[in-house]
Amino acid sequence: MKNVIYQIYPRSFADANGDGVGDLRGIIGKLDYLKALGVDTIWLSPIFCSPMVDNGYDISDYRGVDPLFGNLEDLEELIACAKERGIGVLLDLVLNHTSNAHPWFKQALSDPTSKYRDYYIFRKGTDNSPPNNWRSNFGDSAWELDAGTGEYYLHVFAKEQPDLNWENPVLREELYSMIRWWLEKGVAGFRIDAISFIKKDLSFVSLPPDAPDGLADAQAHWVVYPGIEVFLAEMRNKAFAPYNAYTVAEATGVPHERLAEFIGENGYFSAVFDFSYTDIDLANGNWHSLRPIPKAALRDAIFNSQLAVSAAGHGAVYFENHDQNRSPNKYLAPNEICYESVTMLGALYFFLQGTAFIYQGQELGITNYPWQSLEQFNDVATVDQYQRALALGLSEQEALAIVSQRSRDNARIPMLWDYGKNSGFSDGSPWLPVHPDYPTLCAAAQDGIPHTILQFYRDMSALRHGDLAKLFFDGSFAPAYQEQEGIFAYRRALDSKTVLVVCNFQNNDASLELPPSSVLIGNKRSGLEDLSGRTTLAPFEVLVLLEKE
Ligand code: NOJ
Repeated sequence: MKNVIYQIYPRSFADANGDGVGDLRGIIGKLDYLKALGVDTIWLSPIFCSPMVDNGYDISDYRGVDPLFGNLEDLEELIACAKERGIGVLLDLVLNHTSNAHPWFKQALSDPTSKYRDYYIFRKGTDNSPPNNWRSNFGDSAWELDAGTGEYYLHVFAKEQPDLNWENPVLREELYSMIRWWLEKGVAGFRIDAISFIKKDLSFVSLPPDAPDGLADAQAHWVVYPGIEVFLAEMRNKAFAPYNAYTVAEATGVPHERLAEFIGENGYFSAVFDFSYTDIDLANGNWHSLRPIPKAALRDAIFNSQLAVSAAGHGAVYFENHDQNRSPNKYLAPNEICYESVTMLGALYFFLQGTAFIYQGQELGITNYPWQSLEQFNDVATVDQYQRALALGLSEQEALAIVSQRSRDNARIPMLWDYGKNSGFSDGSPWLPVHPDYPTLCAAAQDGIPHTILQFYRDMSALRHGDLAKLFFDGSFAPAYQEQEGIFAYRRALDSKTVLVVCNFQNNDASLELPPSSVLIGNKRSGLEDLSGRTTLAPFEVLVLLEKE
């Protein structure tokens, strides 16, 4: 039973060797911090050898650690030291594509007759153009020319991330044996990247263009495409099941009706991430069309997701990760961001059914970075979205405002540890800028101090691991007080116990009829207080209540 998983973006967590980039020894040095936070598992974004075009999501050696992060011995030490503290380690499996610097791809190019050619998806073009007009997820055509043969290879993401050909059984066995190799090393499981993309519509039909560039969105032809279930079941049976590995999949596009197949009793994964409430601000999947989030729509999205997920299996509930901007900036107005609202947001998702995920820095209330120019960004997707916004006629200022709000680099700026140089992240020059609010946001400013966001997250984690752990992981979920505007509330129940979570998601008081209960956690009221009947909740007050039996 996983209760609280903490995601680490290794580049930005802690830099032990002073090169400006976080590393494994840096993480080892922070394990006690993670223990005190009360997490039972950590998930490391990719630490494998990579040219870092997409910061490690372009792997050139699945069994090697990139020297930027350390070496295999460091990783083994990290796994052992984490284990000593009762913390498991999840690695990030990127199976839809490799880097173009992977030896398989290099051989596929240098010797088109080698077996590695069929590890990837090569097709002939038509009239000196790519085989079809599909657009990659990072803009531009999804096909890149192999000048040596005149054929093109497919890439759902950047051109430096060629897609693997899952139709090839030999390739699949290579991947499964790599997975088993890591499980033999004692990792607890994996977060699995972009897994819904592994099966393609092999007709590769061109589509009606949806933009002036003549390209078209191809999601319907490569996201959860029919036949994917064969690959997923095989991977579960051959790689994960024999080790009872925990797996959480980034499975974009899985409809709620199919969740039982993905995460049920005999599902492909232990859990999947649902994007319905974290991408709710995207009007059409792009950052250049951000829309305001009506409260009622957000509540419906979270609760509908939870109803569907809890009926099928266990959830992986989260508000932040390395691809999202910071949750206070997404869900709150700038003038609403404060201790109460940020802790309320935390409790809103933390006690939902399944496993609660914390993304590094979320427990400190880190907000978006105040970006000033495009040159400050590192992320490939940010540059692409900026260009696409300009192409759609937005001004440079508007395009910058949009990517500043949504850029993945908001989550990737360095972790804020203390008052020292670079907030204790690095002695060198950090690869992304340090948030200027570090003197108030950093861990040192909050450690041991009541009424801080960090302390609130510690309290929430402790509650999730205490007597009620099973209730939070497994208990039933039911929305409550739905008729009351601005109130996000739900009940969790197991056996004879019922917990009621009430969030006053608005900047004014709310009056509610509460059942006889005692406060487990609150951002205004302390534990042990008893409540009953008509009660006034302060702006952004949250109450986690144990109802009297
Ligand atoms: C999803 C990852 O979370 C993201 O960071 C990455 O860019 C793409 N997959 C491609 O691997």
